[in-house]
This record gives sequence, structure tokens and C-alpha cells, in this order.
Amino acid sequence: MSQITITVNHHTFVGNTQQSLLEQMEYLGLQPEFHCRDGVCGACRCKLNGGEVMKKNALAYISVGEILTCTATPVTNVLLKFDYQLSLAEKSHKSKLCFLN
Ligand code: FES
Repeated sequence: MSQITITVNHHTFVGNTQQSLLEQMEYLGLQPEFHCRDGVCGACRCKLNGGEVMKKNALAYISVGEILTCTATPVTNVLLKFDYQLSLAEKSHKSKLCFLN
């Protein structure tokens, strides 16, 4: 499992190249919007402003430059931008959080 960084709305975390971005953000205690977790609803979309991801087939409509975090797994360091502020879960895995900035 390769270690990469995931930058979400200007905060950088340690991530990996095995799990979807949605799973990794949830593990970190972030609460991105989602519904189907299978590339259908589009609720988990965000802008990919840097880096590369591996995408599974998905049905949801996304614009150029957007990804579905439930079906995207980072291949390199990634820079994500959500149009809304992500909050931390009340029972976040703060011990697992590894802010790099
Ligand atoms: S949660 Fe529905 S497309 Fe990602």
C-alpha cells in the first residue's frame, strides 16, 4: 500500500492508494456528502484540482474536472475541492488524523 497525501479544501492528510477517497475521508473523521456509495447519485462529487485517481465505472453525471469520491481511488497525491465546508464527525478518529498542515 503506497502512502500519498490527500489535500481536502486546503487541509492535507496522509492517505493510501487502496481505498476510495470517500472511505479515507470518513476514516479521517471528515463528513463529505454521500448517498449511494456506488457512483449513481452524484452526491459525493468534488473537483479534482491536482493528482490522478483510478475511477470505477459510474452512472452519475459529473462535470469536467470533477470526480466521484466513492468510486475514485488516488494513484498519486491528490488535491480535492468541495464547494462546501466539511465537518469532523463527533466521534472522529482524531488519533488517526494526521494533518500535515
Ligand atoms: S455516493 Fe452516490 S455517487 Fe458517490
